Formats: sequence, structure tokens, C-alpha cells
Amino acid sequence: MKLYIANKIIKNTAFRSRLTKIEELEKDRIFCGHGLDHLLTVARLTILICQERGIYADPDIVYSAALLHDIGRVEEYTLGLPHETAGAEAAEEILSGIGCGEEEAAEIIRLILSHRKRSTERGTLEAAFYEADKKSRTCSFCKAQELCNWPEDKKNMNIEV
Ligand SMILES: [Fe+2]
Repeated sequence: MKLYIANKIIKNTAFRSRLTKIEELEKDRIFCGHGLDHLLTVARLTILICQERGIYADPDIVYSAALLHDIGRVEEYTLGLPHETAGAEAAEEILSGIGCGEEEAAEIIRLILSHRKRSTERGTLEAAFYEADKKSRTCSFCKAQELCNWPEDKKNMNIEV
């Protein structure tokens, strides 16, 4: 399946330089990182959760939102801004730069903005995306497990399907 928007994003200079910057900023971070592995895992898990729950999800939108959802970490680390809002702003620029359609861009931005809000509903794409972001972490192998502020019952200590 062709992912038109997502493949333009991975070739975009602003996107790539943000990933490099995040890598530099997280060099000494002991907690979870926000590199490409995490971004792609979020996309793949979102698709799986949606399939399991019968939620409609356009893979191009899911992959694009997953690639962009943490790019605001740059502003979070350097300026103390919340990364979902800073990221949404940066993503808007990237999406308009690659010629993304308005409707698709709005959907991608919506997912970026909501990715830190737990939904009470399980049957939405937003809920699946939020859960995928959390489930993407392999807490049981994490060296910073003891220092992490995630509640014990939220840590991913088992492999789940
Ligand atoms: Fe994330």
C-alpha cells in the first residue's frame, strides 16, 4: 500500500532535522526516547488496535500522524512548551510544505493534539493512537524503570497482542 503523505514527510528536511535535533537533545536521557523506532511502532500498533476493534483508519493518516506526533519535543526540551501543541504547529508547516490536502492535514493535526489525552471511549482512532503511544514502550526492559513516573499498573511488563 502506498503511503503518499507519510513518504513525503520522511523525505522532508524540516522533519528530518527535527529528528536529528531530538536525538541530540535526548543523548543523555535515561527515559524513553522519541526516535524513528518509536514513531513507526506507534503507527503499526495503531493499525493493529484499529483492526482489532473495527475502527476505520486510513494508514497514510495514521503513519503521518505517528511520524509527526513527537516533533514538538524540541520545543518541550528547549522552551518548556507542551510538545503536542508545539508539534502540531510545526506539523502544520511541514504538511503545507509537502502539499498535503487540507482535510488530511486537519485529521493528522487532530491526532497530534489529542495524543496525550486518554479517551473514555475505546472505539475511536484517537483512543487507539493514544494507547499505541503508551503500548509502544517496553518497560520490562527499561533501565530507568525505578525512576519512571508512570504508575506501576500502567507500565508494559508483558508482551501483549
Ligand atoms: Fe510518542
